Formats: sequence, structure tokens, C-alpha cells
Amino acid sequence: MLEYIDSHAHYDAEQFDPDRDELLNRIHKGGVCYIVNMGCNMERSRLSVEYADKYPFVYAAVGVHPEDVDGTPDDYLDRLRKWAENPKTVAIGEIGLDYHYEGYNADLQKRIFEEQLDLAEELHLPVVIHSRDATEDTMNILRKRGKINGVMHCFSGSAETAKQVLALGMNISFTGVLTFKNARKALEALNVVPLDRLMLETDCPYMAPEPNRGKRCDSSMIVNIIDKIAEEKGVAPELVAKQTTENTIKLFCKIK
Ligand code: NI
Repeated sequence: MLEYIDSHAHYDAEQFDPDRDELLNRIHKGGVCYIVNMGCNMERSRLSVEYADKYPFVYAAVGVHPEDVDGTPDDYLDRLRKWAENPKTVAIGEIGLDYHYEGYNADLQKRIFEEQLDLAEELHLPVVIHSRDATEDTMNILRKRGKINGVMHCFSGSAETAKQVLALGMNISFTGVLTFKNARKALEALNVVPLDRLMLETDCPYMAPEPNRGKRCDSSMIVNIIDKIAEEKGVAPELVAKQTTENTIKLFCKIK
């Protein structure tokens, strides 16, 4: 049985309301050793910590997602700091920039992103970064800081951008997108990421890999992503699972 970590999941999503508890326990028995549940805003960061407290195999990240910056309370950094004290909070995330939908407030996104990067540095915690249609601004903000202890999640950039992300010292993780028919760009990026800098994630309930594309995703579907990476890199699936597990524990060092 393959054992692996889902480094980025959203089990607080309402799609899991009908069967969350049963599902989490079942997939854990099926090989998902650890799950890191992401924070996106105050309520969802609180839930991440609640699940981490409830399930031994679930860990939390806390943070404000760029699509959730509107209405962020003035004291949000204090609240994140408090949750980050929890021994099972392993990262600040997911944070970053997202210019995908019209009406976004780039200035506000950048301020909240940078404040959370500062917080992570202060707390010596790694960051989980989300960047969509905002590569230039994201990379400019990160480059100013030199080295970044973190992971670029759901990587959607070019091979060239992947090299720049690696040069900052970050890991890169891919979702089920790798298995899609139109994945050529993602596969080119995968090719430049060495196995010891790679992490696995579902971003569930979204991004279900083939053959489940469009359905509700859960962490057990990572096996389809592992198979694709193994095929592309010409290595055994067991090696992909083992190495990505090591990489994730090394980055999120509060795991275990
Ligand atoms: Ni996410």
C-alpha cells in the first residue's frame, strides 16, 4: 500500500459536510498518513486548527487567501499568531495573490500577503503560497526577501518560473492538473523540479485528477497524481510517495 501526505486540502469545505468524519478516517486507513488542512480566512483557519486538534493525522495551516482578503479584521495577525502557537499548526497558508477574477484589489492583496510573510518569518514557520494570474507580482514580492521557506502550491506557471521558484529555495507542489489532457505546460514545469523538491497535494474538494476529473476530490486520489509523476520521471510510484513524504516533513517540521 502506498503511503503519502496530502500537503494541501480543504476539508472544511461544505462538500464534505455529509461524511467528513467517516471519509477522513477511511482515507487515513487507506494510506494517507498526514493531511495538512489549509486556512483561507478567519473562520476556515479556526476550523483547520479544530480538525488538527480532533484528528491525530491532520495538521493545520492558518492564513488569509488572496480571494478572501475583503473584510479581513484589523486584528487578524494576532488571531493567526494565537492559532500558530498550536503544536499542530505547521505553516502560514494559504497566502498569496490571485488576479483571476475581475474586481480584485491588488493593493489590499499585496499588503495582506506581505504582512503574513512577515508573520511567518517572525514565527519561523514555512509558508504555503497561492499565485494565480499574478506571477510577476508574486515573484517580485518573494525575490525582495531572498530565500523563502515554503512551497508554491498548485503550480500553474511555466518551466522558467518553476526554476525561479526553486532558486528561492522553495518546494513546488502539483495537483490533479498534472493528469488532465491539457497538462503539457504543467508537465514541462514538473520536468525541471527535482524529486527532492516536490510535494503532493489535492487541493480537495477541487482539482480531482483523472479519471475522476469534475467529481469531488479527496486525498485518496493522490495515487493518480503519484502514478503520473512516476511515469513522467521514470521512477517507481513508491519512490515518489516516499520522497515527497520526506520533503513535506522536512518543510512542515512540526509534523510528528
Ligand atoms: Ni487551496
